[in-house]
Amino acid sequence: MTTIGIIGAGEVGSQIARKAIATGYTIVIANSRVPETLTDLITDLGPSARAATAAEVALTGDFVVIAVPLRLANDMPAEELAGKIVIDTNNYMPGRDGRFPLLDSGQMTVHELRQVQLPTSKVIKAFTHIQAPTLFPFARPQGDPDRIALAVSSDYPEAVELVTRLQDQFGYDTVDNSPLSESWRTGPGTSVWNQSLMGGQDREALARNLVLEPRRQPGR
Ligand SMILES: NC(=O)c1ccc[n+]([C@@H]2O[C@H](COP(=O)([O-])OP(=O)(O)OC[C@H]3O[C@@H](n4cnc5c(N)ncnc54)[C@H](OP(=O)(O)O)[C@@H]3O)[C@@H](O)[C@H]2O)c1
Repeated sequence: MTTIGIIGAGEVGSQIARKAIATGYTIVIANSRVPETLTDLITDLGPSARAATAAEVALTGDFVVIAVPLRLANDMPAEELAGKIVIDTNNYMPGRDGRFPLLDSGQMTVHELRQVQLPTSKVIKAFTHIQAPTLFPFARPQGDPDRIALAVSSDYPEAVELVTRLQDQFGYDTVDNSPLSESWRTGPGTSVWNQSLMGGQDREALARNLVLEPRRQPGR
């Protein structure tokens, strides 16, 4: 049985937890506080879920989802995440996160920064252009004409392979938008991201929107 570690138990973390359990995974999940603060969520998620600290989640998960806004000073358990595939869902929202000159200047994308913070992990950007509450209602089986696609970006092909399989199990096609330096093409305000607010796009439309995105959007 594969266990998915999830750091962050807000909108995204809890919805990915629900979807993972419905797909047959067990999950271990953390917020920034003690595990007891997640008792209600764990009761709701059922016996396939348990709460732990972020460090325990990082150690226990076969792979780990980070569903936590990015901070400039790393607040993730880098040592415990060593060698693991880390799915990072964060979107850079200066109004919420503060301004990061490193990102605003275009020196690196937000997910390249996460990779710098977790140098021995295999970071992959995923689930960033789908609203968490739509993870269940937008899911469709393979071959359904209404099935939508989600983009991923990583510097590690094995991470792309794993998340492509996971997204398929969740009911989504995948378009590979690697490496991480290209991940700005799916950030907030891009056409891929805006389309997602209106119901998403199929594989062909997503691939086209990625290519047509007019210019580098610093930081995304
Ligand atoms: N909401 C969406 O639909 C959506 C969709 C795509 C992408 N995103 C992006 O995904 C990220 C997460 O979004 P969200 O909406 O899930 O946020 P959220 O509802 O505010 O939840 C954030 C979670 O992260 C936890 N957290 C914060 N710092 C932590 C730390 N150092 N260690 C462990 N846990 C920590 C918080 O724990 P506490 O409660 O203890 O503070 C909380 O459980 C954001 O960057 C967001 O832009 C969101």
